[in-house]
Amino acid sequence: MQTKHYTDQKEDLIAAAALLRAGELVAIPTETVYGLAADARNGAAVASIFTAKGRPSDNPLIVHIADKCELNTLVAEIPAVAEALAEVYWPGPLTMIFNKAEGVPNEVTAGLDTVAVRMPSHPVARRLIELSGCPLAAPSANRSGSPSPTDAHRVAEDMDGRIAAIVDGGACSVGVESTVISVCGDRVRLLRPGAVTVEMLEAVAGAVEIDEAVLKPLRDGATAASPGMKYKHYAPEARVVLVRGDAAAYRDYVNANAAEGVMALCFDGEEQGLAVPYLTYGHRDDAVTQAQQVFEALRLLDERQAAVAYTACPSPEGIGLAVYNRLLRAAGFEVVILD
Ligand code: TXA
Ligand code: MG
Repeated sequence: MQTKHYTDQKEDLIAAAALLRAGELVAIPTETVYGLAADARNGAAVASIFTAKGRPSDNPLIVHIADKCELNTLVAEIPAVAEALAEVYWPGPLTMIFNKAEGVPNEVTAGLDTVAVRMPSHPVARRLIELSGCPLAAPSANRSGSPSPTDAHRVAEDMDGRIAAIVDGGACSVGVESTVISVCGDRVRLLRPGAVTVEMLEAVAGAVEIDEAVLKPLRDGATAASPGMKYKHYAPEARVVLVRGDAAAYRDYVNANAAEGVMALCFDGEEQGLAVPYLTYGHRDDAVTQAQQVFEALRLLDERQAAVAYTACPSPEGIGLAVYNRLLRAAGFEVVILD
């Protein structure tokens, strides 16, 4: 398949929307990461997302909408807390899981009786939803298991020849995937941290429960509240090891383990004295920049053919919790604690 490369100009968006309407797959920019979109009402189109990504079929997708009215066609009921959260954080990087309405294809929900919905803020994503007239089911636009793509060039690396088109909307401003919460129970439950932080959720919804899977591997035999959290994820080819400690402790640990193929993934300004090649992913105190750069840094490790990447451990506060959560998974939960 010859993949078309579109800009974010009007004629291109009209052409991309026509492909979506016709049941084709189109990679689209969002403010978080690029998504691989299909018409969420078309089960066969949605099924082809799983093939293109090599995604396990038991991992459900997020449905993207441009207008709150569209929620009524997708969900069985809208709890008051979801209404309140949508008022404040939609459009934006917040996904909410609802009891699903009849008629949402099983391919979207992987057979669950719940459905995940979000309203992106990226103008190109919104325009494509409006122009196509389709709610768009879209996972991140990477091959299953690899780091999510934050620009169109990275999407092309994974998806060229496998999908109908890629729309280039520039670099993603957030850089990590949306916050995922369940609003089905009596309490809001955080399943995946993102740019809408725990503090931001609690300001609107009161106390938020944090699912165990956010910070721990799934216990043997346990069922994942969010199936995506059970897979080794976001992982480059390199073995990633998180190293927790201050700049000096980190440097000494890396240097003590220096060898052929070892690289450091460190914070900006802490490169000095490292005895191995390094990449950086933002300042230690700047989790917003870390989020923007972390997935690109993981991809660059592979380009540099790192065998092992000792990675400075981010502080799990605010959006830093999302960065930490993704790196924990990239590391397969391997953390060295020096403090
Ligand atoms: O920012 C994002 O959310 C991006 C952009 C493209 O919108 N999308 C994204 O999709 O990250 P994906 O498929 O890579 O991650 C969706 C996550 C998975 O962990 C999946 O298991 C979970 O949401 N999920 C989806 N539907 C669910 C449901 N009904 N119940 C529990 N978890 C669900
Ligand atoms: Mg993903």
